[in-house]
Amino acid sequence: MNNISVLLKEAKSAASRAYAPYSKFKVGCAVLSSSGKIYSGCNVENISYPVGTCAEAGALAAMINGGDNKIKEVLVYAESKHLISPCGACRQRIAEFAEEDALVHMTDATGEVKSMSIGDLLPMGFKEF
Ligand code: THU
Repeated sequence: MNNISVLLKEAKSAASRAYAPYSKFKVGCAVLSSSGKIYSGCNVENISYPVGTCAEAGALAAMINGGDNKIKEVLVYAESKHLISPCGACRQRIAEFAEEDALVHMTDATGEVKSMSIGDLLPMGFKEF
């Protein structure tokens, strides 16, 4: 299996555990770290809507807690007919731990995959102060 197939399997599994009673939109994210370990996360919503967290945030928290802090590739999945693309805040979250050329794989329920670098998804991202 290539990286995308393995990440997709993990992201689908995470999406199946998502807590999304409000949007009914279950998302899974899988991260391949530079150590070769894969971490995953799902969205966790809240009745106070802005408190909910994205799947990417969960996967990155798992990566940090697992002792890794460098992203090689990220895959986001939802059972949707449209490719799922990380929200603006999650692009910033991914950029914190990824080189500009790290790939973000956006997928959907039809099996389509579109891969773009985080640098292209977040041009001129906030990096230094
Ligand atoms: N969501 C994610 O988990 N990741 C994304 O990249 C986009 C959106 C979640 C947030 C919310 O729980 C649901 O999808 C609907 O917006």
